[in-house]
Amino acid sequence: MNRILIRNLGRIGGISEESLLQRSGEHLSNWPALRDAWLLIEGSTIIGWGTMTDEPRQPPNTAVWDAKGAWVIPAFVDPHTHLVHSGTREHEWKARLQGASYQEIAASGGGIMHSVRALRSIEFAALIDESRLRLETMRTMGVGSVEIKSGYGLDFESESKMMRTTRTLASEYPDMNIRSTCLALHAIPPEFRGDMDSYVKKVTQEWIPIWAGEGLIDFIDIFCEQGYFGLVHLDALLACGHRLGLGVRAHVNQFTVMGAVRRAVEGGALSVDHLEELDSDDLDALKHGATFPILLPGCSFFLGIPYAPGRLLADSGVPVVVGSDYNPGSAPGLNPFFTLSLSCLKLGLMPEEALNAMTINAAASLQLSDRTGSVGIGKEASLVFISGLNDWSTLPYHFGQIPPIRVMLKGRFI
Ligand code: NIG
Ligand code: FE
Repeated sequence: MNRILIRNLGRIGGISEESLLQRSGEHLSNWPALRDAWLLIEGSTIIGWGTMTDEPRQPPNTAVWDAKGAWVIPAFVDPHTHLVHSGTREHEWKARLQGASYQEIAASGGGIMHSVRALRSIEFAALIDESRLRLETMRTMGVGSVEIKSGYGLDFESESKMMRTTRTLASEYPDMNIRSTCLALHAIPPEFRGDMDSYVKKVTQEWIPIWAGEGLIDFIDIFCEQGYFGLVHLDALLACGHRLGLGVRAHVNQFTVMGAVRRAVEGGALSVDHLEELDSDDLDALKHGATFPILLPGCSFFLGIPYAPGRLLADSGVPVVVGSDYNPGSAPGLNPFFTLSLSCLKLGLMPEEALNAMTINAAASLQLSDRTGSVGIGKEASLVFISGLNDWSTLPYHFGQIPPIRVMLKGRFI
């Protein structure tokens, strides 16, 4: 099997101790690093690392790369995206620049419904082509694992088309981990207007079991919000998840506190995402539960809404996760280095905490941290090499401006 020895690394960051699969509390700021180091990779896997003073003799059949002082971190894991979509919504953004709100645009038939109309009419092959371009951008920026939601189809055929696009991309890019989340409960489709309950029943009792049987779904999701879905619908999705053995993720508290955090946590949800609005009961539920809070600062940045209380959550001892929420309406940006900067500047995380939130914790929220999101023996060799760093804080300090010098995914440079 191919081996690569990488020499003269200025630092290896994000080293994992075998048993630790997520970081919270006092561990959240722990970003284990090694100075003047080497890494040995065999096939797709990290098989050794150490300091240059005890560099291994070059074994036979081993390629060598001199990193000339570059620093290396685990590839980013983006645990919340709407990467598969058709077209963009600049016209709505311009309306918002002139004072319209995201909710007003949605109420007048735009927003998610605009993207639904575009998604329903695009051909499968064109949807793949469009989505592949975004995935390519993400890869070059150092994202090695990504979760992709459906939710712009809202009918059986169109949701299938989205999830099949995600699965096609996963087969085209086996060097990434691509997870598919069914978000058919993203909005109420026109066919079911005024009859939300029937739509939820259709999705949870008929469609999701079929898609799960076809192997299209890793997780299921719902948008809990005024004008969208409520607590009874969340309960129905949680029950569906239990029946089929699918982890539940939930969009909650983007605009409204409605008790959905406690409901999701107590119902065993894997993650609660957004949390721009959070009350003390929500926080209490998170502290006593095992649900990952996924914060999406790019959405707050782009919509001009409050940021989730990242510092408070970190200090409360929960395993904070940060993702991009990449989508055409509320967060059309997928640069992980910019998200990292926002995590520090707007969520109040320290650089090391933000790095953990976007690597090992994000991986844990996708049930992937046993294999990716950190640098360790037996972990996937998915790595981002960066030069010009003085400190880990140099990364978020140059906001959005650090291009990796090289990206390796599962043992191969892209
Ligand atoms: O996570 N809040 C709901 N869904 C997306 C936005 C979708 C859209 O506007 O297209 C989000 O922000
Ligand atoms: Fe989202």
